[in-house]
Amino acid sequence: MDKKALEALLNDMSTEEKVMQLVQIPGSEYEASAEITGIERGQVKDNVKKLAGSTLGIWGSKRLKKIQEKYIKEHPHHIPLMFMLDVIHGHKTVLPCPLGQGATFDPDTVRKGAEMQAQEAAADGVHATFSPMADLCRDARWGRIMESTGEDKILNSRMATAMVEGYQGDDLKDRNYIAACVKHYAAYGAAEGGRDYNNTELSEHTLREHYLRAYGEAIKKNPAMVMTSFNSINGIPATGNKFLMKKILREEFGFKGVLISDWGAVGEMINHGFAEDQRDAALKAMMAGVDIDMCSGCYSSSLEDLVNTGAVSVQMLDEAVLRVLNMKNDLGLFEDPYRGIDMDAGPVITGESRALAKEAVAASLVLLENKENTLPLRKEKNAFIGPYANNKKLQSSWAFSGEDENTVTVWEAALEAFDPESIKVSTGCTMLDQDTMTARGKRHVDNWEVENTKFMAEAVKAAEWADTVIMCLGEDFAQSGEATSKVSLKLPAVQLKLLNEIKKTGKRIVTLIFTGRPLELNEVRELSDALMICWLPGTEGGHGVMDVLLGKVSPSGRLPVSFPYTVGQEPLHYDMYPTGRPRPETGPSAFTSSYLDCENGALYPFGYGLSYTLFEFINPTLSAQKMSGSETITAYVTVRNTGAMKGSVTVQLYIRDVTSSRVRPVRELADFKKISLDPGAEEEVGFIINEEMLRFWTAEEKWESEAGKFLVWICNSSRDGQPLEFKLA
Ligand code: BGC
Repeated sequence: MDKKALEALLNDMSTEEKVMQLVQIPGSEYEASAEITGIERGQVKDNVKKLAGSTLGIWGSKRLKKIQEKYIKEHPHHIPLMFMLDVIHGHKTVLPCPLGQGATFDPDTVRKGAEMQAQEAAADGVHATFSPMADLCRDARWGRIMESTGEDKILNSRMATAMVEGYQGDDLKDRNYIAACVKHYAAYGAAEGGRDYNNTELSEHTLREHYLRAYGEAIKKNPAMVMTSFNSINGIPATGNKFLMKKILREEFGFKGVLISDWGAVGEMINHGFAEDQRDAALKAMMAGVDIDMCSGCYSSSLEDLVNTGAVSVQMLDEAVLRVLNMKNDLGLFEDPYRGIDMDAGPVITGESRALAKEAVAASLVLLENKENTLPLRKEKNAFIGPYANNKKLQSSWAFSGEDENTVTVWEAALEAFDPESIKVSTGCTMLDQDTMTARGKRHVDNWEVENTKFMAEAVKAAEWADTVIMCLGEDFAQSGEATSKVSLKLPAVQLKLLNEIKKTGKRIVTLIFTGRPLELNEVRELSDALMICWLPGTEGGHGVMDVLLGKVSPSGRLPVSFPYTVGQEPLHYDMYPTGRPRPETGPSAFTSSYLDCENGALYPFGYGLSYTLFEFINPTLSAQKMSGSETITAYVTVRNTGAMKGSVTVQLYIRDVTSSRVRPVRELADFKKISLDPGAEEEVGFIINEEMLRFWTAEEKWESEAGKFLVWICNSSRDGQPLEFKLA
């Protein structure tokens, strides 16, 4: 439809029809089996069901076709309904959770993964996904850290950008792509105390410098939507925040698409103490520029009246509705309302999608310890022990359209790889302690004591038989994701007990940790000869993990978040600000900025990860020691694989602005490149440093660079390397 026809359509619509384009209702209103996060079915009035512009949480060509046919027939202007779904790290074929994808440090793999997700979801009738989540996360207590790509704004920017490109392709009308939604705008990850939905207090400097960056970069790729966040920022709920939505999002970032609230967030402004009632909440959200009200019911109950009484102008309403109609038009829905649902087939998992997922898993694994080359595994007797050894639940709570039955467990992959006589499996213990609160409610394990006594005895037997034990431990999938904040970052006590029992057998121990958040691993690392983070790896989890265990692929993942010594360090991130009393390198000393009982930094820092091979960083150099605003400097290093195996390494560039009008972090990631090298091979890696990369939110409240000295590291992790120096004139 051309622009004129779209405007003519808008002009012909009644106020009620227009308002309803801004209303999103749960898919459960159309079909009972929808996946939704709250709300009971049957709360939405019939006229709303007939006119609501979009719905979420339902998929499947047959089911959606039925709904769409009825809807279009009954709609006065036959405007199609838009179907949205949380396709977060997979639809049919499930990729590693976003934090695992961050660990790949490989935007290309992430882009291809998003493209695959789009193709699968589109073939199931989905028009839009609520992804990427570009929230900066520095707090492991916040369970949604699993849905992020980590603590660094540059890494997050690259990953969010790659996801938008992968989901949307070049043209949304292409039936293989779907609309992306950058969320949760803004600073949802900064929830105080790591408690979900909690308030955030952030200076404009911190907000702009760190938290807003990845949203801003992703928005440059024209995502169809942006989603508001649940939290308030400096006292104003994001969903009613004019400064965030109007000034920054629309004016500064130039976002032209649809702004959707998070689930119920418009109505939650009443609980926040910011709106009096539903009508007031609808008014405040409209004034802030929220186009679609996701499921709070405030727009459907009050917006028409707000327009009729002049509190919301017709122009404001029309602008919002036009953005929604434009999105439908961009998706080609007016010409092609049955896109993805006119064939009954639906998506299938293919060899290709499995191969992509397996590669992504292998690239996401982070090897933290490998004492005396414990890994790769030898062809000897190996026992796979622990609640994750043969567990199909390898995907997160945000991959509900992927089916467990398609998942390959570690044990299933081992059966394919080893002589069955040479391996054993044992559950070892229950996943959780006796009573644990999870996102899915309280989990009580019946017969906990009896079961665990039995499991542990079996496991000890298996360990005694084996030469090497592969401990498959971690957090349950329902312990990370939405509403899973925790004040302990330890493994469940029963799993630690199991590890201690197995240690007593004196066998070599490889510990695999399946998790959606950083954990405290001090005790685990002491008990293990090798330690590897496997995240929540998805459908091909078993195969990807096995490829690395066997040395078919050398591990190349890097931590996208700091792993702390103790939860008491949280929030924790590598790009800290210097203090006036720095902690001496030799350890804590009186009256310096130190903990009396812990290091300041992480147990395993951002950017850290080992390989089976060795990489030497030879002669890091800068092309010049001085640079004017219009010039660039190239930072070079030659990387040589001096080990015996092919492997990939992420070369990282960090910069520090030494003196400036507003203090700058001790170092910040500026760029990174992942390269692959055969044994003995070398490659020169170059990074261009330009003036724009040196800009920051100055004391004058402007994005500018300032003349002076800069330090540069070209290195292997955020804690590695010797600084080089240059001056900006
Ligand atoms: C989450 C969003 C999600 C939405 C729709 C909310 O509870 O915060 O991330 O996209 O539900 O399912």
